[in-house]
Amino acid sequence: MKRLLITWVLLVSLSVLFFGFAPVVRSVFGETGGAVIHAYTLENANGLLVRLLDYGATIQSILVPDKKGQVADVILGYSDLEGYVEGGSYFGSTIGRYSGRLGKGQFEIDGRVYTLPINDGPNTLHGGFNGFHKRLWNANVETVGSFPSVRMTYSSPNGEEGFPGTLVVTVRFTLTDDNELIMDYEAFTDRPTVLNLTNHAYFNLRGEGNSDILSHILHVSSDFFAETDEMLIPTGSFCPVEGTVLDFRTPLPVGARLDVSDRLLARAKGYDHSFLFMRSLANELVLSARLYEPDSGRALEVWTTEPDLHVYTGNFLEGVAGKHGSVYGPYTGICLETQHFPDSPNRPEFPSTRLNPGDRFQSRTIYRFMILP
Ligand code: GLA
Repeated sequence: MKRLLITWVLLVSLSVLFFGFAPVVRSVFGETGGAVIHAYTLENANGLLVRLLDYGATIQSILVPDKKGQVADVILGYSDLEGYVEGGSYFGSTIGRYSGRLGKGQFEIDGRVYTLPINDGPNTLHGGFNGFHKRLWNANVETVGSFPSVRMTYSSPNGEEGFPGTLVVTVRFTLTDDNELIMDYEAFTDRPTVLNLTNHAYFNLRGEGNSDILSHILHVSSDFFAETDEMLIPTGSFCPVEGTVLDFRTPLPVGARLDVSDRLLARAKGYDHSFLFMRSLANELVLSARLYEPDSGRALEVWTTEPDLHVYTGNFLEGVAGKHGSVYGPYTGICLETQHFPDSPNRPEFPSTRLNPGDRFQSRTIYRFMILP
């Protein structure tokens, strides 16, 4: 194992030295429905390793050293493909066409009502039964400057899971030497449609499988959250976080006020909320969240051009068999989903999620890792 690692580091260093770029290593991850699924491993100059799958345009692992140099995988997931094919927790996957809930599984475009499969109470969640996280994406290895990059593309046919228009979506993952995993999203359609894309990584900065995330320190600078009803559908109002358990404008442990009898946390048994980020310039990158785990010294910043940061504390995880024998229960990971608001197509007052033919959807999210003393 050690010899393999040394050979790998040597190969990477030599290719950076001679060719000026860090390679992406492709390997077979499994097979499903007659298709071979590949993993793509990206490494940067600081030893950060990111493994992507073309199944679901998924981040399968992110290996980050702690302050003592000990490496751990900081996201939840499965060791094998079967987990991703059978599982229902969306670990690390790209979510689409519509991330979050669409009330009663329907919306209207130009007077026509579209009805979607219902998979969450009376609503549609995360694009339906077979959203983008269950699709095989087409992966292309690229380099962006000298950084390793993989561009994943999926063409979603007109009518898939009830959504109109053929939608061609691209997510380009780039790993920089500033310990940033950059996700650039782009989409085009051939008829008016709606879309909401995100990555559903569950972070545990102690390392997946190593306790819960309740002592992670969370900082979310948003002043407002989207109020939701008992089915977690936005009511259309934005409420001040001031004086509520959702106020993370001053950094606090995630578990400091996680009391499931609180009226705001009872419905989802924890945090499952959308925070509003306004900006003066369209497409401006803002720091939406900062997460810090004091024992390991690992920290994560989430930068995004998206208006909503959805914080979900893994409340519905229950005995999920994860990587290397780990078992994930409630609060063993935290999702920081950058996106548009749930149910936006039914809420004209929310930032629009409509895409028209000839227009280009574009957004960027960055996970930036740091190791603090
Ligand atoms: C999102 C939702 C949660 C939950 C998870 C997946 O974050 O907001 O309510 O459904 O996805 O389990």
